[in-house]
Formats: sequence, C-alpha cells, structure tokens
Amino acid sequence: MLSVKNLTLAYTNEILKNISFDLRTSNLFALLGPNGSGKTTLLYAIYGIIPDEIECNVDGRISIFGKRPSEFKDKFFMFQDIENELIGPTVMDDVLINAKTEEDAVKALKEMAIYKLRNKDVFEISYGEKLRTLLSAAISSKAKLIILDEPTSSLDFSVAENLFKLLRKMSKERIIIVSTHDTYLAYKYATKVGIIKDRKILFGKELLKKAKQFGLRPLRI
Ligand SMILES: Nc1ncnc2c1ncn2[C@@H]1O[C@H](COP(=O)(O)OP(=O)(O)O)[C@@H](O)[C@H]1O
Ligand SMILES: [Mg+2]
Repeated sequence: MLSVKNLTLAYTNEILKNISFDLRTSNLFALLGPNGSGKTTLLYAIYGIIPDEIECNVDGRISIFGKRPSEFKDKFFMFQDIENELIGPTVMDDVLINAKTEEDAVKALKEMAIYKLRNKDVFEISYGEKLRTLLSAAISSKAKLIILDEPTSSLDFSVAENLFKLLRKMSKERIIIVSTHDTYLAYKYATKVGIIKDRKILFGKELLKKAKQFGLRPLRI
C-alpha cells in the first residue's frame, strides 16, 4: 500500500497543496494534468528523488508499504527520456543489470514479448521495444512500485495502447503509476485516475469526460 497524506510540495512556489490518496497493489494509477501542473514533481517525491536529489520543500507524509520513499528500495522509475536509461550493448544485458536472476530476466522478456530481441543491440530497436526492455528490467528486479513519467508522448497510438494493456496486466502484482496526456488510454485502462487542478488532485475516471475543463485533451471514446 502506498499512502500520501496531507502532502504539500513547494519549490519557491507551491506546486501541490495538502493532497492525500492511497494506492494498493493492482492499481494502475494514471496521473494527468497540463504541462507544468506538477506531475513529475509528485512522481519524484514518491520515488524519493525529492527532496534527496532535487531541492523541494516537502510537508506531509508518503508511506510505501510502511516505509518512507528514501527507505523503500523495491521500486523502478522510468524517466521521460528513456534513451539515457539504456546502457546495452544488448537487450538482455540491460535487463540483467536489474534482474535478480537470469531466469527472472528470461521470464520478464517473454512476458513483455521481446524474448526474440534479447541479443539485439538495444540502440537499434524501436522506441516501443526500448520501453519493453525497461519494463522487463523493472519486472525482473521484482519492483513492487513502478513509476512511468509520460511514456506515451513519442509513441504511435497502437504502440501506446499496447503499452497500457501491458501496464494493466502488470499492475495485478504491483502498484503502477503513470503520468500521461492521453485521456483515452487513461479512461480505458487505468483503475484509478487523478487530475491535477489548481494544486489539488481530483480523482475519478468520469472527470475525464470533462477533460477540456482541466486543460486536457478532450476524451474521444
Ligand atoms: N527543480 C525545480 N525548481 C524549481 N521549479 C521547478 C523545478 N522543477 C520543476 N519546477 C516547476 O514546477 C512546476 C511543475 O513542474 P513539473 O512537475 O515538471 O510539471 P509537469 O510534469 O506536470 O509538466 C513547473 O512550473 C516547473 O517549472
Ligand atoms: Mg513532467
């Protein structure tokens, strides 16, 4: 269980004010909000980069399976610029960096349907395949919390939809948080939706039907 309680995050100006919510295993939580609304800031705070590596005032409490973000280790963060996360040389090498065992790596690659790419140069596969490589790394590391910051921004629609299908499947055994601008995919696949509006988070999938009101792309079902 992940619990955010009375959380306020502020650089010089306040980004989020007094927000609270809970997530449990089997939640695929989609976080939406216009550019600059604070999605990445919240994700960093949950992951523990804030305030450890990035200066930001944190008030309130985040607890992940009973631990503070900095103490909780079974987690995986997928940054917006995934190219920087890949080391290579092969897909398999990248997964093995995080995998607990080689067997775990093979299992994860099969689950992500990229086992046949295992010996490929990780810099010569498509963006969607790179995402799956990192997800394989996340799964085989046995992370209980996986956070993805706008993974679909540079994906074709069908690749993005496949990613959300995978995330939904993966979320059965983990907590997954994904920030996105894609109202349709959030509506269709997320189990929980939060929209940042005026330093608060409003919850509920049905709110996506009024997406324009929150500065989001209109929902086309
Ligand atoms: N390290 C930082 N120091 C000061 N202000 C920041 C920092 N990082 C982001 N911000 C500001 O905080 C606000 C929220 O940013 P961010 O969390 O990146 O939003 P989003 O991910 O929703 O686009 C923006 O106005 C941004 O300029
Ligand atoms: Mg961001």
